[in-house]
Amino acid sequence: MTNEPAISFAKDIRPMFTDMDVAHMKPAGIDLSSKESVQAHAEAIYASVSGGIMPPPSSGEARWTPEMCERFKRWQANGFLP
Ligand code: HEM
Repeated sequence: MTNEPAISFAKDIRPMFTDMDVAHMKPAGIDLSSKESVQAHAEAIYASVSGGIMPPPSSGEARWTPEMCERFKRWQANGFLP
């Protein structure tokens, strides 16, 4: 564990959300560009990306890879570092 680099929102998590993701989710009340908002909705976000529900296949965006999902999970488990 101690050898694993810490996961930060700015460096590791924020870049996984595209401009399209951010724009489409703002009206739904989730600001994917904000650490506070992503943290507040972390369980639902993780469930949707790991389940392949979000981003919707109809958006043309690729589904998150297992590595991306794991990175998000580690960010959660490590206490939501900025
Ligand atoms: C709390 C979790 C989330 C909820 C409840 C949620 C809900 C929704 C809803 C209701 C829509 C509009 C209906 C639709 O276009 O299918 C939508 C659209 C969309 N969401 Fe999410 N979403 C969540 C997380 C995410 C995440 C984490 C991403 C990106 C990684 C994302 C990307 C998108 C995109 C790109 C669209 C637009 C699809 C299109 O217009 O083609 N969403 N979401």
